[in-house]
Amino acid sequence: MNQKRRAMFDARIAAVQSGLEKAGAAGAVFGLSSSLRYLVGFSDEPGERALLLVVPHSGEPTMIVPALYVDQVEGIDPPATIKSWADGEDPMSIVRELAEKMTGSSGRVLVDDTLWAMFLLPIREAFRDRAFGLASEVVTPLRMCKTEDEVAAMRRAGQIADRAFENAVAEPVAGCTELELAGRLEAAMLAHGADGIAFETLVASGTNSALPHYRAGGRRVEEGDIVILDYGCRVDGYCSDISRTIVCGEPTAEMEQVHDAVRRGHWAARERVAVGIRAEEVDAAARDTLTSAGYGDRFVHRTGHGIGLDVHEPPYIVEGNNEILKAGMAFSIEPGAYLTGSFGVRIEDVVVVGKNGALAMTNAPQELRRVT
Ligand code: CO
Repeated sequence: MNQKRRAMFDARIAAVQSGLEKAGAAGAVFGLSSSLRYLVGFSDEPGERALLLVVPHSGEPTMIVPALYVDQVEGIDPPATIKSWADGEDPMSIVRELAEKMTGSSGRVLVDDTLWAMFLLPIREAFRDRAFGLASEVVTPLRMCKTEDEVAAMRRAGQIADRAFENAVAEPVAGCTELELAGRLEAAMLAHGADGIAFETLVASGTNSALPHYRAGGRRVEEGDIVILDYGCRVDGYCSDISRTIVCGEPTAEMEQVHDAVRRGHWAARERVAVGIRAEEVDAAARDTLTSAGYGDRFVHRTGHGIGLDVHEPPYIVEGNNEILKAGMAFSIEPGAYLTGSFGVRIEDVVVVGKNGALAMTNAPQELRRVT
């Protein structure tokens, strides 16, 4: 790993430690997660073998690493001492030793929000008398504001998603199954340089488009169908997330009307974005527009979610979230309207808060695209 990268991870660990200090916490324990990736530059799918990062509020962090990962972890030169354990050994004995060492410092132990219960319970045993909290308390404030390099990765992931959209609609859509269209988008993103997809692609055609979190299935697209495409990819771990609504053939007047209302809602939200406002104000801008258009009760979800190393992370763009927007925060703006049993529309782009408002990471045309 080059020195600049190592210095970045050292700085992130130092920031977590000063956060622990301020929070009156003795330390934090992370598992295989996006926060681990943020702090040491390494992660993987979580599995049954314990791979943990223990960060005391001061002093050297320790990574507890299954033997089969040791070469890989050493290769990234993590800002931590590596202690390995082999299959058949008990990794919790290392946790108990570290817990022992922390007896000199008071305070809670913060744990990675997504740590599996099979690790959390023995960790609680090891730290016996301590109170516990969530590591997001100290990590979220750091992760929420993206640096220039993080924004560059997100922009690249967005550009790839934009190109995949053009590829997907350039060829006939009628007669394809939703899963075939999902495969078309995913293959295009990989061909354009994505490291992987960010989440399982959603392709919802016809009446399925009225179900906001319908995935993709065997239904074939027919003439006259609306199709919602919601997908994204990863570059250097950072995600893109875009939704576009297309129509096979000619749209009905109602389809155009709903699409127009959602698009106006999207832009009302986007134009509201500014440093210093509350997250919920962005939601209100989209919701008020859709309510005036008569679709307020058909907009059945929040306006957006933060995004970065996770597809969904703080800040959530939702009523009741008083988080003040700061430069570098990244989130989706994705209002929708869903006419049960008929069709739905969603238009989504990820934006980053800049000094002069929202900077979009995706820019594929938003119009109700007619496809064949
Ligand atoms: Co989204």
